Amino acid sequence: MSTVGKAGLEDVVVSTTDICYIDGREGRLIYRGYDVDDLAAHSTFEEVVYLLWHGVLPSKKEYETFYKALSASTNRKLPPKLITILHALPKKTTPMEVLRTGVSALSAWDPDAADNSREASVRKAMRLTAQMPTLVAAWERIRRGKAPLAPNPKLSLSANFLYMMSGKKPTDLAVKTFDVALILHADHEFNASTFAARVTAATLSDMHSAITSAIGALKGPLHGGANEQVMLMVDKIKDPAKAEAWIRKAIADKMRLMGFGHRVYRVEDPRAKHLRRLATELGRQVGDESKVQILNTVARVVTEEKHIYPNVDLFSGAGYAAMGIATDQFTPIFAMSRVAGWAAHVLEQHGNNRLIRPRGEYTGPTRATYVPISQR
Ligand code: CMC
Repeated sequence: MSTVGKAGLEDVVVSTTDICYIDGREGRLIYRGYDVDDLAAHSTFEEVVYLLWHGVLPSKKEYETFYKALSASTNRKLPPKLITILHALPKKTTPMEVLRTGVSALSAWDPDAADNSREASVRKAMRLTAQMPTLVAAWERIRRGKAPLAPNPKLSLSANFLYMMSGKKPTDLAVKTFDVALILHADHEFNASTFAARVTAATLSDMHSAITSAIGALKGPLHGGANEQVMLMVDKIKDPAKAEAWIRKAIADKMRLMGFGHRVYRVEDPRAKHLRRLATELGRQVGDESKVQILNTVARVVTEEKHIYPNVDLFSGAGYAAMGIATDQFTPIFAMSRVAGWAAHVLEQHGNNRLIRPRGEYTGPTRATYVPISQR
């Protein structure tokens, strides 16, 4: 009798955690006790990062100090030699490859690289959270043959990122939408990339290694890569009038429908409604509502026909596209937010660590006879 649980560790509880709770039946997502609906309505990404790392909401003074540190050019800027490395990469390198490479390389310049104390790990998390938007924006400009822009410490993380991408002052609605998207993506319990980060951290490896592992796991289309796939689908459909026929055929062809379904939620992902609303408002502002119209039709048909519901990845990209962001930057943006949660999990793992080392049930042969290579 096999002792293997359900494939993909489904429903396996691997650890306790104080960071994040998902109620998959009610469709609720909670960070440190706070419903993301409330955080999306009232908070800022910077405050949510503080909450995830420190377990409580900051006082006004704590918030100001934390915000200032996260915005400081000393934390946001990239080592000039890393920019030189970026220039040396082939222009076709995808933004996720660049992010994975860049985050790994950043540890070479980090003054706390070898220190795994909580204080040093928080400083490293702070630098990574501040540097990742600069890295993503720098690559966007380099691959377009433009010089990267220096971060502006007077702007919030969201406003500064949008500015560094385009060189233009973003609209208030774009900044608000982007900030809410970052809040909604900041953590999600033991998802694949967070688990990868925790597995790496549990060997007593360092923050940069854990975040690099997580970025690798996020890249796949079953996880963070789904938001890009959704936009590729929208681009294929093009015309809202053709959306219903297209998605009905996709269902009949038994295609995997990106932006739908979830291992934990049995109802609509609570993040999707915020992203749908914001993408709708932004689409209206920029005079292109077609993407959201296509997604609304796709969502209605898939929900009716397959009873699987939109997840976080269905509407996020439509908002980013309305901000003029390239599709292959959607997953790096997910990482720019999720780094907050990954870091919180690394801190929690290091705070009460035991090596994560499961077993496999061997199903191969056990008595093969070795034949020398010359006789095979
Ligand atoms: N399209 C078509 N069928 C689906 C989908 C989907 N998106 N999701 C689930 N199903 C069906 C699947 O075919 C299977 O049916 P059956 O039992 O008849 O074979 C059943 O539902 C269970 O699917 P599963 O793949 O075993 O479920 P899972 O818990 O392993 O997968 C998932 C979860 C998110 C990988 C899956 O729903 C999926 O592939 N979705 C599309 C990719 C996507 O949007 N990923 C983003 C996830 S949310 C953000 C994040 O965490 O990164």
